[in-house]
Amino acid sequence: MSENPRIVWHAQSVSKEHRFERNGHGGCVVWFTGLSGSGKSTVANVVDKMLFDRGAQTFLLDGDNVRHGLCAGPNLLEPVHGPDFAKRFGLGFGPQDREENIRRVGAITELFASAGMICLTAFVSPYRIDRNRVRSWVESSGNGCFLEVFVNTPLEICIARDPKGLYQQAIEGKIKNFTGISDPYEAPDSPDLELAGGTQPPEQLAAQVIQLLTDRKILAK
Ligand code: ADX
Repeated sequence: MSENPRIVWHAQSVSKEHRFERNGHGGCVVWFTGLSGSGKSTVANVVDKMLFDRGAQTFLLDGDNVRHGLCAGPNLLEPVHGPDFAKRFGLGFGPQDREENIRRVGAITELFASAGMICLTAFVSPYRIDRNRVRSWVESSGNGCFLEVFVNTPLEICIARDPKGLYQQAIEGKIKNFTGISDPYEAPDSPDLELAGGTQPPEQLAAQVIQLLTDRKILAK
C-alpha cells in the first residue's frame, strides 16, 4: 500500500462481514455527479433521510459544505494559517484544485465505506479521470463498492434554476472556470445509474437510488 518502507499497513480484525452483520447493510460510496444546480444535493439529501429512517448508517458529504472545512479555499484558510499556507493548501476551481478536492473527498469516502457506512457524496466532480480514480481507490480497498449516479439535468434547466445566482455571474464573466459555462463537464460513460433531473420530484429520483442499493445487495429487501 505504501512506498515508504517505514510506514506499514496494519491488518484489522473487524471484517466487512462483521460490519454487514451488525449494520444490516454493506459499506459503499454513492457518488452523485452533475452540474451545479442539477439537484445532486437535494436528491442525495432525500436518499440520506430515507436510509437513516430505515436504520442504516449513512452520511452525506456535500461539495459546498466540504469547501468550508476539509477543502476550504484560500480566503477561509488565510486568517487562521497565514498567506503561504493558504496559497499551498487552499482549493479553488482550477483543474488541479478540483483534482485535489476529489482526491481528498475520495480518500474520506473510502474510509466511510470501510467503516461499513453508506457514504453519499454530492460534488460536481466534472472530470472523468478524478471520479474513476476514486472508484479504483474504493474498489481496491475490498471493503465497499462505488456506485456512480449521474444527475443528468440539462444545462438550460440548471441556468433557469440558478439557486445561488452563480450562473448569471458566470455568464457575465464575473466567475471564471464555471462548469458548464466556461469550464467542461465530462459526463460519465457508463454510470451505475442515470437520473433524469428536472423531470420528476426528488423523492422519485431518490427511490431509484434506493432500488439500485437493493439491486446491488448493499441493502436487504
Ligand atoms: S468540484 O468541481 O470541485 O467537484 P464542488 O462540488 O466541490 O466542485 O463545488 C461546486 C459548488 O461550488 C457549486 O455547486 C457552486 O455552488 C460553487 N462554485 C463556485 N465556483 C464554481 C465554479 N467555478 N464551478 C463550479 N462550481 C462553483
